Amino acid sequence: MPAITLFPQPQRLERQPGAFRLNAHTRLFASDRALGEMLANYLRPATGFDLPVHPLDDDIRAQVTNAILLVPTADLVGAEAYTLDVAPERIDIRASKRNGFLYAMQTLRQLLPPQVLADSLQEDVAWEIPALTITDAPAFGWRGLHLDVGRHMFPVGFIKKFIDTMAFYKFNTLHWHLTEDQGWRLEIEKYPRLTEIGSQRAETQIPTDPNQGDGQPYGGYYTQDEAREIVAYAAERGITVMPEIELPGHSLAALTAYPHLGCAGSGYAVRTTWGIDSNIYCAGNDAVFAFLQDVFKEVLEIFPSEYIHIGGDEAPKERWRACPKCQTRIKAEGLADEDALQSWFIRQIESWLNERGRRLVGWDEILEGGLAPNATVMSWRGSDGGIAAANAGHDVIMTPTTYCYLDYYQHEDWTREPPAIARTLTLDQVWQYVVAPPEIAPDKRHHILGGQGNIWTEYIPSANHVEYMAFPRAIAIADILWNHPAERHYAALLERLKAHLPCLDWLGVNYRHLDD
Ligand code: ACM
Ligand code: ZN
Repeated sequence: MPAITLFPQPQRLERQPGAFRLNAHTRLFASDRALGEMLANYLRPATGFDLPVHPLDDDIRAQVTNAILLVPTADLVGAEAYTLDVAPERIDIRASKRNGFLYAMQTLRQLLPPQVLADSLQEDVAWEIPALTITDAPAFGWRGLHLDVGRHMFPVGFIKKFIDTMAFYKFNTLHWHLTEDQGWRLEIEKYPRLTEIGSQRAETQIPTDPNQGDGQPYGGYYTQDEAREIVAYAAERGITVMPEIELPGHSLAALTAYPHLGCAGSGYAVRTTWGIDSNIYCAGNDAVFAFLQDVFKEVLEIFPSEYIHIGGDEAPKERWRACPKCQTRIKAEGLADEDALQSWFIRQIESWLNERGRRLVGWDEILEGGLAPNATVMSWRGSDGGIAAANAGHDVIMTPTTYCYLDYYQHEDWTREPPAIARTLTLDQVWQYVVAPPEIAPDKRHHILGGQGNIWTEYIPSANHVEYMAFPRAIAIADILWNHPAERHYAALLERLKAHLPCLDWLGVNYRHLDD
């Protein structure tokens, strides 16, 4: 029997003799018609089969052949679990929740010949699926990729394609980084200058010389309708879009649009170089909180995500130290210092979000000066912040630079690749990533919700380049988050990837080739 390669690898897979052969007479049975249609739509372009979707009823269920059945079941543990039974006569998929069915469909797509992933008719392919039983569920419930659209933005069509590729690997969260010093990318109706002014920068520093700009104005943003379209597209594919609106730092684009929100009150320009800006929202000005509440009101209308990311990273405190309003706030609130002032700032936002049924996520700097009571920490400066937060009883999403930063070079020899941020993260290194380290007490391990790969786009100007940086490293991350294998043999990963990567060719994804 030819080997079966799946990414992510299922928890349990047992082969049986024979195969199911999909043909023009195969019927789909589903109690949720939309799910059946989704499977039919996945299979149609390459096979040319227009498979009909029938309601699932008990009489049929016992005897039907040449069919794929989507059978709801209450007895699977976990919202994302599924089973897949492929017999020569028919295929049974069982899940208790919608995402389980979606994952089973992605597994089916990977079990078919890879031509099934083409968007045009493929002639003379035997559409066979090997007989087997798969029992599957993820190790971690948070399986994400982050995409920065502040430094460079990408067309809506590409965001959808990226979501499709994420769905193929059973990711369930797109962390959409929407605001930056270098550009504000989300339309906010109450504050039109955020996009009129804040989405535009005069030029962009060139990768080879940070002291030189390219002389080309750069800008753009997503309308609320476009953002809603992306949220709906992702939801259909089992993916939640978590927006990130940065505060108090990485906010120069917003200050340029509305200078009264900064400590100095004037003199701001959307940043044209990378790095960290010292200009941040003034913590002593009540207008800042009114503004942020207005912004988040619109954000919550667009994004149903329970988790809302508020940034919190890389906020230098020098402006706050020199600002009379910020110093007055520190005294009035009895705060120890500027770190405590940031903590107070985050707590204001957190209680506002919590009152509206949402949960705050922030980068691990939100631990400094005291963590907001219900906050979820995204651990990026290594795993220590995440370990401390989990041991203190807070939920954590792991995304340490050392294993998860997909904007780093993929090879030690940087001359082999386009310019990237000046660090290396090889596929081999990604593959060694242990999401829940042993320093976390066993009774606190459940606080590790999962992890994600981060794609910062200072040096990633195009959609093709996003894919080049993401894949195949994100495939390794998907595998780790889904089944967290105890043994990590890199040679074995490479063998599996060699067999699997033709899938990305058929999907038209611009991945980095293993021997490049
Ligand atoms: C980060 O990479 N600044 C979260
Ligand atoms: Zn201030």
